[in-house]
Amino acid sequence: MRIIIINGPNLNLLGVREKNIYGSQDFQSFFEELKQQFSTVELFYFQSNHEGEIIDKLHEVGFSYDGVVLNAGAYTHTSAAIGDAIAGITTPVVEVHISNVYRRETFRHHSYLAPNCIGVICGFGLTSYRLGLESLLER
Ligand code: DQA
Repeated sequence: MRIIIINGPNLNLLGVREKNIYGSQDFQSFFEELKQQFSTVELFYFQSNHEGEIIDKLHEVGFSYDGVVLNAGAYTHTSAAIGDAIAGITTPVVEVHISNVYRRETFRHHSYLAPNCIGVICGFGLTSYRLGLESLLER
């Protein structure tokens, strides 16, 4: 079972950035915890601040991996291109967000990705990633 977590723009700053919204843990230490918890899964991680690199990664993994947990950050609300990339691959994608985007500004209420994802999880802090992973494993 091969699953990749893909993080989009500004998520390299987790633990530093707007801690009141995104918490104080950095993603690398959380990812180490996940790898221990899901030791039977081959877990990969990719982060980019560039839209095209996220699309390239989706193309790279999207016909061979068993799942993608994707937090595209603000591209969620702007990128028809990432939405199209998800539609074009066969690997199931779960959209996740750390914050509850529906409690925030209205521009965050729309996702270009969600229609092409198997589901969306948001608002549970970093636990959103864990729930995303579990939902893929239970399929
Ligand atoms: C986010 C929510 C987005 O609206 C925001 O642009 C992010 C992070 C989240 O995980 O809560 O960068 O995807």
